[in-house]
Amino acid sequence: MAKTRRAALYLDKGGTGKTTSAVHLGAALNELGYSVLVVDLAGKQGDCADALGILEEVQTDIENEDDFPNVATTMGSRWSDVADMVGDEEAVDRLVYQTNAGIDLIPAHPDLDGLDADLGNIDNVDERYNRLQTFLDEFVEPVNRWDVVLLDMPGLANNITYNGLWAAQNVVTPVSMGSFELKQARSLEDDLEQIRSNYGQDVRLRMLIPNLFDRRTTLHADLLERFEKEFADLVAPEFVVDSQQIRTVTEAGQTLFDLNEDSLLKTGKDARDAFLANAEELYYRLGESQ
Ligand SMILES: Nc1ncnc2c1ncn2[C@@H]1O[C@H](COP(=O)(O)OP(=O)(O)OP(=O)(O)O)[C@@H](O)[C@H]1O
Ligand SMILES: [Mg+2]
Repeated sequence: MAKTRRAALYLDKGGTGKTTSAVHLGAALNELGYSVLVVDLAGKQGDCADALGILEEVQTDIENEDDFPNVATTMGSRWSDVADMVGDEEAVDRLVYQTNAGIDLIPAHPDLDGLDADLGNIDNVDERYNRLQTFLDEFVEPVNRWDVVLLDMPGLANNITYNGLWAAQNVVTPVSMGSFELKQARSLEDDLEQIRSNYGQDVRLRMLIPNLFDRRTTLHADLLERFEKEFADLVAPEFVVDSQQIRTVTEAGQTLFDLNEDSLLKTGKDARDAFLANAEELYYRLGESQ
């Protein structure tokens, strides 16, 4: 069987739509019949759990100290003890929450902060950055339960981010339509080139998703053209419109895929269709890269 397809939603900037895209691409892939695991590496606030309607459950587990092992454990020194004690598959099971969207989630955890510092103390760079890759290869892969693993990443480059990039190798980047964002996309390409030449990791940008697109302004259409001219086939097949309904469903712990046809507004429907088209294309691109 083909190796699980992996992608990291990443740009070293906050608020560009990484979490929204991780959750909606995950829900779209699920709609297309693929089983999806989302791993939230993006800090302690638990945005993915929130967007998928299970934040309360996750927080209750943390308050009751029923939060070991967690995502940070997978990159720390105690993971092999957990696996030895309960068995590999059970150890993975203990990390995973099921959500209404049909996606499985390994939520973020407050221990990620300390983990970032701990990783920084490891001198050997392979040792420092290959933790998550090893976890996915040796523990998640054999469970054989997911077709796609999506990593929601922090909007900055830290040791956890590098673990995510090493583990996924494929980067998906939501960008809004601005010339500053165009520059950021360029500098992301430079950063990935640096990683490839300095560390020998074949980390590549696979998809740029134009996000928060406003059809009413020619400025956005012009910028989209510039993105397409410069990044050509890397641009996703469909832009995602700025849709108030995305904000509303996210706040309610749902995705656009949880709404029935009647309650979808025009922009909500457009956004949902765009996520579907982009998810299908992403699945294909991730397969090609293997
Ligand atoms: N297409 C869209 N239409 C409307 N609102 C959107 C869209 N995409 C994202 N948003 C909103 O923009 C805000 C930031 O999005 P999101 O949390 O996904 O960004 P992020 O890159 O994950 O941020 P961070 O770096 O803080 O993790 C959220 O309130 C989200 O609901
Ligand atoms: Mg986020």
